[in-house]
Amino acid sequence: MSIQGLIFWLRQATLVLLCLPALHLAWRWYTDDLGARPVTEATHVTGDCTVVFLLCSLALTPARSTFNWMPLVQIRRRIGVAAALYAGLHFLIYVADQKWNLIVVALEIARRFYLTIGFTALLMLAALAITSTNGWQRRLKRNWKRLHWLIYPAAVLAILHFFIQSKANVGEPTVAAGLFAWLMLWRAMPTKLRTGFAGLLLLAVGATLAAFVFEVAWYGIVNGIGPQRLVAADIDPDLFPRPVHKVLIVSLAAIVLVGVRRGALALKHHWTRRYIRTTIPTS
Ligand code: HEM
Repeated sequence: MSIQGLIFWLRQATLVLLCLPALHLAWRWYTDDLGARPVTEATHVTGDCTVVFLLCSLALTPARSTFNWMPLVQIRRRIGVAAALYAGLHFLIYVADQKWNLIVVALEIARRFYLTIGFTALLMLAALAITSTNGWQRRLKRNWKRLHWLIYPAAVLAILHFFIQSKANVGEPTVAAGLFAWLMLWRAMPTKLRTGFAGLLLLAVGATLAAFVFEVAWYGIVNGIGPQRLVAADIDPDLFPRPVHKVLIVSLAAIVLVGVRRGALALKHHWTRRYIRTTIPTS
């Protein structure tokens, strides 16, 4: 398949995958399968999707570089826009839950810190989605890159909103924060280290430690639970998998995937050279 054909199918497949959670949610809504609190369930599903797509869009630059596969850049924009659309849907469901009373919505956003930061993150994602087109890129020139740095504070606020609304159990936001730490550490690393196995191993350790620190900080500040109890939970096999284990597993899975990709590339290179050697006669 030509590279253009591959990019075409990659973009179509991404579009389908991005639409699936919304279609699934619509189906569950239609068949009355959203449990006792359908609006809360829909708020949670759309919030989760926003965070997942936000992290996926941030993962594409490291993925392109470590997998050495350029076509991945072609799907970054649509994943980012999907994150903004899911955030918009998440907000609309919240507004619908408030009986479309915009004054109540505005007062709640002003009054509740987790809604204030969620709304700020939503505004940032909306600005990024609107200006993501080629036209805006041309119009804003160098400022476009500066504006698109907003993705980082937007992700930080989104994850903080996730933590605060999770209240007692911060397992999922801790995983999101650990993976976000992986993505930020990758960007902060010296370029030489970024694509090597040693660098990826360091990242796995760094992201796992970061997840542990986030969890310790949260439970320490909010619930007054000391770090020794979290260490005990993390080494208890009955409690496996805890958030730190999940971050470590994802980070190690990334290393395995990079290994498989490099192995496949090396094999392809070897067979191409062999084919050339055996089919083109040397003079
Ligand atoms: C980029 C922006 C946002 C992101 C990424 C986001 C993400 C999330 C996530 C991940 C959850 C938890 C889902 C779960 O527990 O499974 C959540 C819950 C929630 N979010 Fe957002 N959110 C955003 C903006 C907003 C805004 C603007 C509002 C309303 C003004 C809002 C209202 C809520 C509410 C009411 C909940 C549920 C709280 C509960 O169940 O007690 N979010 N959000």
